[in-house]
This record gives sequence, C-alpha cells and structure tokens, in this order.
Amino acid sequence: MHIDILTLFPEMFDSPFSVSILKRAIDRKLVSIGLHNIRDHTHDKHHVVDDYPYGGGAGMMLKPGPIFEAVESIRAGLDGQEPSQLPVILLTPQGRCFCQEITHELSKYSHLILICGRYEGIDERVRQHLVTDEISIGDYVLGGGELAAMVVVDAMVRLLPGVLGSEVSAVDESHATGLLEYPQYTRPEVYRGWSVPQVLLSGDHAQIAKWRREQAIQRTVERRPELLDKASLCLEERQLVNKLNKS
Ligand code: ADE
Repeated sequence: MHIDILTLFPEMFDSPFSVSILKRAIDRKLVSIGLHNIRDHTHDKHHVVDDYPYGGGAGMMLKPGPIFEAVESIRAGLDGQEPSQLPVILLTPQGRCFCQEITHELSKYSHLILICGRYEGIDERVRQHLVTDEISIGDYVLGGGELAAMVVVDAMVRLLPGVLGSEVSAVDESHATGLLEYPQYTRPEVYRGWSVPQVLLSGDHAQIAKWRREQAIQRTVERRPELLDKASLCLEERQLVNKLNKS
C-alpha cells in the first residue's frame, strides 16, 4: 500500500512513523508513505497557501490551487493506475465518522491520498471537484487534519497482511468482533493480592473461549450498549444480553 499525505506540516509525521508497528511496516515495505508539502505547489514569492473567505467571516481558508496541483502531480506520476480510481480523502470534522469498518474498507486500496486541512477551512471547490471521500475522527475540532491522518494511517496499516506479528492479534481486539475486547492478564498470577481469574489458568480452551466471549458481551453491555445492535450474537448470547440488561 502507498499513502500520499498532503500537509502544511510534513515534519509532524516524523515521530509516529518512526516507531513501533508503523516503522516496522515501512521498513518491511508493507506500506510506503509520501509526504507532500502543500506549500511546494504555490507559485508566488511568499508561498502563500491561505486567503480570506469571500463574503467575510473569521479566519483564513486554504486556497484551492496548491491542493489541486499537489494531487495532480501525484496523479501524473501514476504508472498504469487509472487516476479516477485513486481515492482522495479529506480529513475534516464534516466527514463520515471514522470506525473499524472504514479502516477495513480503506485497507483494501493499494494507493490513497490523504489531505490534511488547516485554518478555518478549505475552499469548497476542493470538496466538490477533487475529493472523493471525507473522514472525521470524532466530533471535536483539531488544529488541522494531520493528527486525524495519523490516526487513519495507524488503524489502517495494522490491518495489512504481515504487519502484526501474529495474524490473530487483530481478530479478537475491540471492535473487530463488533464487541469490546474481553479483559486480559499476564504474569504474575497474583499481583498485590489481586489474582488472575482461575479459568484462564485452567488450560481448558473451550471454557476460556466461553468466558472471554461472555466477558466481551458483558463489557459491551456496560460500556457501549449501542454496539450490540450490529454485533453478531447467537440466541444464547442475546439471552445473556437481556439478562445483563435486567440485572
Ligand atoms: N480536522 C480538524 N478536526 C478534525 C476531525 N475531528 N477529524 C478529522 N479532521 C479534522
């Protein structure tokens, strides 16, 4: 997978991409990242990327020209791939709300462009004539799309084949099953008097799987009950949900 990121602050991406899973994925060439400074696509002496909004109002806007030209320069370098097939995603609080389902959807592309907005907004023509999708990472306003782009890249890359040490580690975790993840423990068996649940030490894999599934359901009922509408549960598990809701 190749991800091109358009930003006014490429240096913001240095540290998240140089540690842990993302670094390993980049080093192993499972993903490559192209960072593009939007300012490099200006033509004036001062490399101006922003301007006042027509009609007045507070704050500055990102001009359309440098963004169109940055995307067009990436499209011009495509070999073989049809430019219209290349998703161009704007990170914005107005986008569809990012979730694990979208992570799976995006991780299927071999090439993506992410545009990080800044200032009070972006000229609407970028949305209308360049962008193919808009994503928000939550109902709050960040100083720009960079942190949102990092979140999207991090969540997406860990789903790529070969990125996680063990292929199963992305299967059980929160949201992958439509439920929150069950509680996990590691050594020591007793810490400050608090013991690991006995079933996990029993070696009985069927009992452990049953316990984990019940714990995941219980945790989801307690913390994120709205997730249960979409989760795939068998009849017995639905009965457990009803019982937990009544207690
Ligand atoms: N840019 C500013 N706020 C944002 C958000 N919540 N999600 C995505 N991009 C943003």
